[in-house]
Amino acid sequence: MIRAASYLVVGGQFGDEGKGKIVDLVVQEGGVDVVVRYNGGANAGHTIVLDQGKYPLHLLPSGILHPEVMNLITAGVVVDPLHLVKEIQNLQGRGFSCENLRISDRAHLVMPWHKSIDAHLGGRIGTTARGIGPCYEDRASRRGLRMGDLVDEAGQVDKDHFARRVRETVEDKNAILTRVYGLGPLDPDQILQDYFAAAELLKGQVTDTADLLERYTREGKCVLFEGAQGALLDVDWGTYPYVTSSSVSLPGCLLGSGVFVVPELRMGVVKAYATRVGEGPFPTELGEYGAIKERDAFNPEVGPPKLTAAERSAALDGDDYCMGRWLRLVGAEFGTTTGRPRRCGWLDLVAVRQAVRMSGLNALVLTKLDILDGIPSLKLAVAYERDGKKTRTFPARAHHLDQYSPVYEELPGWETLNGAGSFEELPAEAQRYIRRIEEYVGIPVRVLSVGSHRSQSLFLPDRVVTVK
Ligand code: GDP
Ligand code: IMO
Ligand code: MG
Repeated sequence: MIRAASYLVVGGQFGDEGKGKIVDLVVQEGGVDVVVRYNGGANAGHTIVLDQGKYPLHLLPSGILHPEVMNLITAGVVVDPLHLVKEIQNLQGRGFSCENLRISDRAHLVMPWHKSIDAHLGGRIGTTARGIGPCYEDRASRRGLRMGDLVDEAGQVDKDHFARRVRETVEDKNAILTRVYGLGPLDPDQILQDYFAAAELLKGQVTDTADLLERYTREGKCVLFEGAQGALLDVDWGTYPYVTSSSVSLPGCLLGSGVFVVPELRMGVVKAYATRVGEGPFPTELGEYGAIKERDAFNPEVGPPKLTAAERSAALDGDDYCMGRWLRLVGAEFGTTTGRPRRCGWLDLVAVRQAVRMSGLNALVLTKLDILDGIPSLKLAVAYERDGKKTRTFPARAHHLDQYSPVYEELPGWETLNGAGSFEELPAEAQRYIRRIEEYVGIPVRVLSVGSHRSQSLFLPDRVVTVK
């Protein structure tokens, strides 16, 4: 059990830490009335596993499977209405009405030109090609279109206004698409037809979510703020320029939701090892990204590749690529949004400390501990070293990061968690691994996740942790 007046759930690494599972779990166990998604867009992929199957969510907040809980998509989120409608219809087909959803009238719209530009230019960063960066760019340069341009105060589709805005924008965008990037032009009539159709379905749910949220907090409702991505993908504090285009942490939460509420329990979700998808520095990576892309691509018709006995023993003999492949295949580390193989590595505590600082985290959630079963020796990065100098803070210059080598502490692993029902029932080595993480970052682990299902979770009591 876990109880707080309000919660923040954010990623403590490079995304895909298991936030979706944890939001759904805390909603179930923690008395949550409202879930607020405040940043990112359909680049996120949050997986929830229930008895009846798997639910990958992208734009929808992870409380959506609880009909009694209100879910808000606030102004900090960039919304692709066509994608959102598909996601809603998909859930409706599986028995969830999605009537418990409200969308901010200030949320920016991801438009087809954003997706074209992202698909064309995003390869350098390895983006998800969902139009996220170009949409946030237009927001900052004051050229963006917002949900309120599509749906008016009375909840009606504002056809005249939206058509005017699209036609004037598409003229500029087509000039850029064709003359600068050599791409085909977009057809404004088609865009209007698609967006009006989506707006007809969404219009009853578009509102001033900040006003609603303020009312909920005044009424004493319990709110959970859900961050997408992870601290090291933050536009300011991540491995710039290999980052997403939003503020993923507590400041982004306040900005994106438009209401000043500092969540009481600020939980950083951290995978028991590390993964990253897309380009960019990854100090504790095991194996070469080039080889991973070539050898570990996921073919949906065949399924993921399998770890051979020879690879397993090579991993145990110190072959980094094979150890990374072990984590990838056992941990099913393939992107929810793009299906790309995720790069895998040892847990980087220097990076986690950065996440703690950014959101004033006061609790950790450690996920996928089960994936480490059977690895005899585990490494934790506790500093970086460059030219004989050690540092415990995350360097600013992404282009220098490959010159830093992680300084590792090595801890013994365990054979199996064996369905432990409490911290005390975990193997002593697992207990030690968890305690070392807590000591390094200075906050307690409050939830341990040992499988993808809600029920595979252990709650730990609050405790004071002294940094060592
Ligand atoms: P998110 O983006 O942070 O919500 O994470 P993703 O959903 O992209 O990736 C996490 C994956 O790990 C999902 O497939 C989850 O179902 C799965 N998962 C979450 N927690 C655990 C866990 O403790 N053990 C295992 N084996 N899988 C988990
Ligand atoms: P969740 O919420 C993992 C990565 C992309 C790319 C970079 C920029 O599921 O944890 P973008 O499309 O945002 O411009 O891509 O950020 N990225 C993620 N990686 N999990 C995510 O979300 C991500 N969202 C974006 O792979 O490297
Ligand atoms: Mg994800």
